[in-house]
Amino acid sequence: MSQDLRLTIAAELERTRARTALLTDAVDDDDLTQQHSPLMSPLVWDLAHVGNQEELWLVRDVGGREPVRRDIDELYDAFKHARRDRPALPLLDPAEARAYVAQVRDKALDVLDRVRFEPERRLLDGGFAFGMIVQHEQQHDETMLATHQLRAGSPVLTAPPPPQPDVAATGEVLVPGGRFVMGTDTDPWALDNERPAHPVDVPSFFIDVAAVTNGQYAAFIDAGGYDDPRWWSPGGWAHRREAGLVAPLHWVRDGDSWAYRRFGRVERVRMDEPVVHVCWFEAEAYAAWAGKRLPTEAEWEKAARHDPATGRSRRFPWGDDPPGAEHANLGQRHLAPAPAGGYPAGASPLGVHQLIGDVWEWVSSGFHAYPGFAAFPYREYSEVFFGGDYRVLRGGSFGTDAAACRGTFRNWDHPIRRQIFSGFRCARDA
Ligand code: AVJ
Ligand code: FE
Repeated sequence: MSQDLRLTIAAELERTRARTALLTDAVDDDDLTQQHSPLMSPLVWDLAHVGNQEELWLVRDVGGREPVRRDIDELYDAFKHARRDRPALPLLDPAEARAYVAQVRDKALDVLDRVRFEPERRLLDGGFAFGMIVQHEQQHDETMLATHQLRAGSPVLTAPPPPQPDVAATGEVLVPGGRFVMGTDTDPWALDNERPAHPVDVPSFFIDVAAVTNGQYAAFIDAGGYDDPRWWSPGGWAHRREAGLVAPLHWVRDGDSWAYRRFGRVERVRMDEPVVHVCWFEAEAYAAWAGKRLPTEAEWEKAARHDPATGRSRRFPWGDDPPGAEHANLGQRHLAPAPAGGYPAGASPLGVHQLIGDVWEWVSSGFHAYPGFAAFPYREYSEVFFGGDYRVLRGGSFGTDAAACRGTFRNWDHPIRRQIFSGFRCARDA
């Protein structure tokens, strides 16, 4: 049992590091140390930060070993330096950062070999500390992918296109009202903000079968949606004017149509793909224009997890099986979201498609603690963000790894953020 867990963890650590290496080896040293946007860290910061978190939790805390590099903790503490200030710090250079993460990994694997997974030590129950570090690195891999999207210059990443529609996935479905269980107590690698499981009463509502597409979003633009304050909240309108928003991030006019630059390649906007790189304010305005609204976080999770046949909440829309390539567009296997209908095997029992993967979905809710929340193992993962100026995103994107994605997983960001792989779907009252 604990030998299986050890093997699973070792495989997850290795698979994750391969992705980190791919994202950081794809560019030269100059590119690694450069800042591609004030919103993002230099890639070399993410790399050493991932190693530093692994050192803090696996080498020092779980393993009780001596520090590898105590002197650099402060440089890689995300709370000490804003992203825009990170390039000016005396960071490890690319060769030093690579050597550092490799050295930490050797020690972490040695800790893994010797550790006993005693449930009395909560940090180790179900291998949690290791799962947390895998997810942390995967989250930074998605952040690094967003940096790649912002980087100028010729393309360095390639992937096959996502699957094309197999079935029509349009319209909306009715989710009948009633209680469901939100959050989890049993998922061993679920993070603190996903806990505890708690019943929520959700009145009937309609939810769209698919995320809003580029074509639908372009119709909002063509209808003058960006120039009509009726569709925008006061904060959204103020931001739209100040930031001069006219279309999703990365869109440029191409005659009567639109083009976008994706990972260094310019392509015509595909009208059947989900819209991505919109902020929460844009999502809110589109939904108002369409006569709908964003789902609440509870509505989203009920649509994704509630099994009407048993009344149980499942891990994923398709059941409890881990995500396979047939279920969802995850893990950077493709470098674009799939059009609606590309993943019929991943649909929910009520027929809602692609809740997992493709694009993160903004929901209407702010980021709050569930009743009975307890910070674990550190307040800075979630607790310090509760109640702030954040909105929740659900379901993961094509850039999110399966290890950091499930029906209970909660992501959050400021309502103005667009560099993330964010889209949305609409809902309405029944
Ligand atoms: C959960 C994606 C908002 O990137 O700020 C990474 C994840 N926390 N390192 C972030 C995270 C610490 C976090 N998000
Ligand atoms: Fe981090």
